[in-house]
Amino acid sequence: MCKCSISVCIAFVACCVVFALPETALGQQEYDVGEPNDGEVVFNGVRGSDVALLFDSEEVIVNPGDPLNLDCGVQGEFRSCVWETASATYQIEDVYSNLYSWMGKPPVEENNQCGIIINSANIEHHGIWTCKVYVRGNSLVGKKKVVVTIKPTTPVLEIEQSGGTLEVSNDEETEVKCSVAGARPAADIRWYLGDKDITVFAAADQTPNGEEDMHKTVSTLSRTFEPSENGRLLTCTVMHQTLVVPDNASIPISVIFKPIEKPLSTYYQIVPGSDYEVRLNFSANPSPTTTEWRYGEGFQNLATSIPVPGATDRYTTSVEELGDGHYTAKLHISGFTDADANQRYVLFVENRLGATQYQVKLSMDEAPLDGDSEYRDHDKIPPTEFSVSEGIVFDGEMESNALSGGAVAGIVIVILIVVVAVVAAGYARYRQMFCFASRAESKAYIQDPERNDADNGTANDAVKNSTDHVNGKTDTTAVANGNGNLEQTHVEEINNGKKNTDV
Ligand SMILES: *[C@@H]1O[C@H](CO)[C@@H](O)[C@H](O)[C@H]1NC(C)=O
Repeated sequence: MCKCSISVCIAFVACCVVFALPETALGQQEYDVGEPNDGEVVFNGVRGSDVALLFDSEEVIVNPGDPLNLDCGVQGEFRSCVWETASATYQIEDVYSNLYSWMGKPPVEENNQCGIIINSANIEHHGIWTCKVYVRGNSLVGKKKVVVTIKPTTPVLEIEQSGGTLEVSNDEETEVKCSVAGARPAADIRWYLGDKDITVFAAADQTPNGEEDMHKTVSTLSRTFEPSENGRLLTCTVMHQTLVVPDNASIPISVIFKPIEKPLSTYYQIVPGSDYEVRLNFSANPSPTTTEWRYGEGFQNLATSIPVPGATDRYTTSVEELGDGHYTAKLHISGFTDADANQRYVLFVENRLGATQYQVKLSMDEAPLDGDSEYRDHDKIPPTEFSVSEGIVFDGEMESNALSGGAVAGIVIVILIVVVAVVAAGYARYRQMFCFASRAESKAYIQDPERNDADNGTANDAVKNSTDHVNGKTDTTAVANGNGNLEQTHVEEINNGKKNTDV
């Protein structure tokens, strides 16, 4: 009883820790609040005799042809204002009395007594615009950078290889550069592989290219490509405020890799006497230099080989190219016999990067419903045609799903706590079981052999031991005692499960 309450205590503490965790994390996030707030209105320059300038000195970017509003306001009494550029000075009275056809007065003058509107921006308006307000005994000044855009030049993929594709290896990083010679402001470059954004693998470098505020952008992509990405289009995309539709440069990639390894494949339910065609999918790029079927008494003893395509009296081989480095190799057997089922087969494939042997078994048996039993009983490898390792290679879009280190640590801690709680609860339960277990129920379970298949390793083994004893001895009561407490506990738990399903 005392031990039980200790376990309950442990479980309770564990729960408290679990619920406390998220609050700690929240506390850290709130730390950022209270940053200085960059408001639109900046009180700039000198505050002379209770007069303040209302001015936003943030850079403004405008496309040629678009109107350009330049706001400048005053709080308090002032005499006059002017706008200055590198080459000219414009008095606000002149602007407001329509001296200039290309610029005029803003619709609202409140807090913007010195504001102007340029009807249609052009290259000449690029540069620093200064609003100067004259007040008694002083002047207030606000400066603003006006960037009049220039369309980026066409992006260029800097690739040394000739030909229409870019050859990349699947076991080393490839660097590809894309450059835009000039744009104002600097162009933004993104990378896509097919539809997938892979810009995270790129670093961009923007350098002034001589002309006023023009920039060259070079983006360098550094990435290792997967065999599954063979044949996809690599695209460098340029985004810029002047472009309605992004500008692209692209090239298909050819990922080169040695024939991808696969676990043993077993083909089931082959009918004796009938014709049978083994179809084995494999991937290799560039295309194989050697493809052959080999067979013999065992995988270490493959006496005979047939080239692909080729034939012996009963065996015919061929290969179908599916594109992008995928192939289906076929072995046609006419009049399948026991001898064929007793042989072992290997598809040997070699290309420029290496060779791989694909092991194949042919069976007249039913396909096992549960791949796991085959795994244990025979070759220690799942026998199904689809391969685990290939799945990982081909669907390896893991980059975007990665959790942060903190999240992983949090999850690990929570899992550990849950495990501790479960063990504690299990221990408490175990103590009770030990005191009150009923032998009659244990016996009922042991005599039910079907349960053996459905449960996992530890429980299953314990039960199996018990069952072995039952079969070996007639005294079943002695079994429960003889097997010790631990095994009896497992039996008891499973038995409870069974009772639930039966009721
Ligand atoms: C082999 O590839 C073909 C074409 O992609 C596919 O239809 C077939 O299901 C594959 N076979 C196996 C056993 O995976």
